[in-house]
Amino acid sequence: MIGAAPRPRAEAGRLAPPEAGAALLADALAGLSAPRKTLPCKWLYDAEGARLFEAITRLPEYYPTRTEMRILGECGAEIAKAVGPEATVVEFGPGDGVKAVLLLGALARPAAYLPVDIAPEWLEAAASRVAAAFPGLPVRAVVADFSRPFALPGRPAREARLGFFPGSTIGNFEPEEAAGFLRRSRAALGPGARMLLGADLVKDRAVLEAAYDDAAGVTAAFNLNLLARLNREAGADFDPAGFRHRAVWNAAAERVEMHLVSLRAQAVRLGGRTIRFAAGETIHTENSHKYRPERLRALAGAAGWRAGRMWTDPERLFSVWLLEG
Ligand code: AVI
Repeated sequence: MIGAAPRPRAEAGRLAPPEAGAALLADALAGLSAPRKTLPCKWLYDAEGARLFEAITRLPEYYPTRTEMRILGECGAEIAKAVGPEATVVEFGPGDGVKAVLLLGALARPAAYLPVDIAPEWLEAAASRVAAAFPGLPVRAVVADFSRPFALPGRPAREARLGFFPGSTIGNFEPEEAAGFLRRSRAALGPGARMLLGADLVKDRAVLEAAYDDAAGVTAAFNLNLLARLNREAGADFDPAGFRHRAVWNAAAERVEMHLVSLRAQAVRLGGRTIRFAAGETIHTENSHKYRPERLRALAGAAGWRAGRMWTDPERLFSVWLLEG
């Protein structure tokens, strides 16, 4: 979902009302009028959704964040060797900048750090964290919407650029949208650039489903918050207690799906319309695609990159890739 971007730290999901309210209502009317009801996952990330997502990243069942941090920490020297010295790191949707600090700390003499996001206020946390950790490192925040063709500031002739897209956020894009993002970022980074990409791996159903349906109910709250948001920002009258969270591994599509299941037959008012739910009918709210190495290689190849080295953890839960242009 790039046109309808999924990123936890960026995109229209966090536009200030009333723009967000109108866009949310339009997306909700379209998605909830379809034969199979859907809502774009970008709308999961209002302030409460972002807070709940941060809590998810610390859950025992949610392995991706800590595993990727572990790979960046333990394989930092190898990554640095493969990347080479004096790289300019261009991070897409940088969030709080914690992973950038880990990467920049491993790289040999990084030349600069460019966090890229759609809204200036979302770049502040990453830019200031990196600037504080690496005094003297040039940090330049770039406001750009990478869900469309975008440009980066002009580059010195011999600058070595390294795109950085951690977090397995690529998995929240539909595969063709993921290829679109990789193609656009390759064009924006320019000739000779590389990209360090975090992607979650296919694994046991039980591990995957637990990661998206934790015992403490944080992911359930994250998913159900979407209904509270629709009530607050789009004037809907959902009864969140009339729905429950479901996370299911779709083995054929190799993705974890999040749904909100209607617990009874019910009708909801939205934008002057009545949306009817049968008991058991669901709203599909998110896909989190998991990538086998061969599929990731094919995806990168379709976007003009060559997937080079891959680093993983001892349990092969998560992968960090170096893509070459
Ligand atoms: C942001 N993104 C990579 C998360 C994921 O794992 O797909 C979003 C998430 N949804 C439920 N838990 C986490």
